[in-house]
Amino acid sequence: MNRLVSGMEDLLRRTVGPAIEVDVVGAGGLWGTLVDPHQLENAILNLVINARDAMPDGGRITIETANRWLDGRTAKERELPPGQYLSVCVTDTGTGMSPTVIERAFEPFYTTKPLGQGTGLGLSMIYGFTRQSGGQVRIYSELGQGTTICLYLPRHLGEDIQPAAEIRSPDPRRATDGQTVMVVDDEATVRMLVMEVLEDSGYAAIEAGDGPSAMKVLSSNARIDLLITDVGLPGGMNGRQVADAARIVRPELKVMFITGYAENAAVGNGQIEPGMSVMTKPFDVAALESRIREILED
Ligand SMILES: Nc1ncnc2c1ncn2[C@@H]1O[C@H](COP(=O)(O)OP(=O)(O)OP(=O)(O)O)[C@@H](O)[C@H]1O
Ligand SMILES: [Mg+2]
Repeated sequence: MNRLVSGMEDLLRRTVGPAIEVDVVGAGGLWGTLVDPHQLENAILNLVINARDAMPDGGRITIETANRWLDGRTAKERELPPGQYLSVCVTDTGTGMSPTVIERAFEPFYTTKPLGQGTGLGLSMIYGFTRQSGGQVRIYSELGQGTTICLYLPRHLGEDIQPAAEIRSPDPRRATDGQTVMVVDDEATVRMLVMEVLEDSGYAAIEAGDGPSAMKVLSSNARIDLLITDVGLPGGMNGRQVADAARIVRPELKVMFITGYAENAAVGNGQIEPGMSVMTKPFDVAALESRIREILED
């Protein structure tokens, strides 16, 4: 956990900008846990982005890890079996949350952010991930007093797996040299997640935050084997329109839509064309990875 968090420090600082200070306090002698590292990274990034959004005038984010021994009472309070857990807590000095917001925050699509700025999926994805991993998420917050959100994850007693080394070891399923994927999403979190999956699988990746900038690249002669695009995009073109326009200049282009909506609505109610597919948010990193491979090996 400490290794993963310190590996993210640069990314986190760049994400929050200079007005927010980021402090990482990794506990010494921290136990191990066995969870999907991509999902854990994505969870921490989402918590940090939420913290940033709660501090429009700047402030401080502290990310702290700890060993936790939950006895019968404290475990029950957190709806977990008693035992040993690791915690990672993200604390901000932002607006805080009202009791109503705390109560609803984990609901999918619950957001207090203006239309187009939040999907309301961040905390619901984090909740799903920690519960699936045998852990729990807790919010400690008061209006005007800032917020702490903690993930509790079960201690893993097996041998220490070195994730960094594991990721770098040669992967027989690595991509064919030079295969290039373009990722279009206005949400930096989703884009970074997909870019990371691509890079880990050995694909070259190009990213864009809206339709018009994606079209600039798509109308160039840059190599692109697959277009992965969000359906809801700012800038006057939705993902479907980007794909259709791209196929005018690149008729063979493979397309994968990423969408938070029901599959049917996203692709024009079943009007999906050959070489196009849909992935519904929130999705599993492993599922995304194998879908990309499937499409490109076709
Ligand atoms: N650190 C925080 N400080 C204050 N409010 C928060 C914080 N984290 C979450 N919230 C509140 O909880 C709501 C739900 O958060 P969640 O991450 O699920 O969605 P979102 O941030 O609105 O959208 P998304 O993460 O999908 O872009 C937020 O809209 C906000 O009101
Ligand atoms: Mg969020």
